[in-house]
Amino acid sequence: MNDDSMLMHSDAQPYHFAAGDSLGYLLYRSVARPGMQRDDLERILHHARDRNRAAGLTGCLHHEDGLFFQWVEGPRFRLFRLIDVLREDDRHLNFTVLDQGPLQQRLFSDWEMRFSDREAASLLEWLAERRDRAGSDQDDAESIAAFMRSMNG
Ligand SMILES: Cc1cc2nc3c(=O)[nH]c(=O)nc-3n(C[C@H](O)[C@H](O)[C@H](O)COP(=O)(O)O)c2cc1C
Repeated sequence: MNDDSMLMHSDAQPYHFAAGDSLGYLLYRSVARPGMQRDDLERILHHARDRNRAAGLTGCLHHEDGLFFQWVEGPRFRLFRLIDVLREDDRHLNFTVLDQGPLQQRLFSDWEMRFSDREAASLLEWLAERRDRAGSDQDDAESIAAFMRSMNG
């Protein structure tokens, strides 16, 4: 899944912050619509990157075992709008916000939307290992955010 089309950076003009924009992040999990194909994923990514570039959003989308995990960062008012749009998107179900809040510095400033999947690294295995170590059965947002950060080098 991680060929050039999925990893590509975009070369269009970035959004420029206006005075008063405050930076925030959103982390959510959802269930991919059954039967989702690689083409569908490419379409989602392509469109998301176009929109994010215009909106000054960056982040990382992970797809594994029919689940999506996405970290999005940027101007907070844009994130609030994106949440409303994502909730209505029938290409995924059970949209669940895991965490959101203010952010000091972007983690994915070079990415309109990075993409990863099990072939790149398994988030579900990462979570299972952390659960074993911690003796807890919580897939906590902090562990998912730590995985996302680890994907960025
Ligand atoms: C898993 C998933 C991730 C998405 N990520 C983004 C995103 O990062 N940014 C974005 O604008 N839209 C994203 N979308 C698409 C939005 O849900 C929505 O379809 C799109 O923003 C609407 O664009 P339009 O108003 O140009 O039709 C995502 C959709 C899915 C299913």
